[in-house]
Amino acid sequence: MRLFAIIALAAIIITACTNNSPERDQKLNENWGANLFKTRCANCHQENGAGLANLYPPIAQSDFLTDANRKKVICLIKNGYNGELVVNGKTYNQAMPANPDMSDEAIAAITTYIYKNFAQKNIEIIPLEVQQSLSECN
Ligand code: HEC
Repeated sequence: MRLFAIIALAAIIITACTNNSPERDQKLNENWGANLFKTRCANCHQENGAGLANLYPPIAQSDFLTDANRKKVICLIKNGYNGELVVNGKTYNQAMPANPDMSDEAIAAITTYIYKNFAQKNIEIIPLEVQQSLSECN
């Protein structure tokens, strides 16, 4: 009986710890980013990130997704973009719609997702970086 109590207690402690683990948070965030991409971006950029003809640029293997462009990417997702944009040597000139209702957390999740999944970059963008970047958009 006592042994059972100890095992039960250990199980509770282990579960409690795993529930709050950073690995689990990261996984949840990744899933959230993937879902946001599917629901809010894939209709133009396609689920596999390939883009659409001359209208919508690719996200997959896009040379715009560099480390140096993190701020630009964050600003573009929140505020949208009008005007010419060159991606992988090709010029695009359609409007990218703004996402004014997206929280810093949501933009952090989606930006991390596209960098990891489509640009193969191990970049983790946190909500604080989004907040700072958004205060510096031009
Ligand atoms: C209505 C279509 C549309 C939707 C929806 C859309 N985009 Fe775009 N996106 C564009 C267009 C068009 C451009 C290029 C702007 C231009 O042509 O000047 C662009 C450019 C980009 C770029 C920079 C260029 C590149 O291909 O790397 C990124 C990154 C991007 N979009 C990410 C997103 C994300 C993330 C979402 C979802 C939150 C999203 N887009 C939703 C149309 C769209």
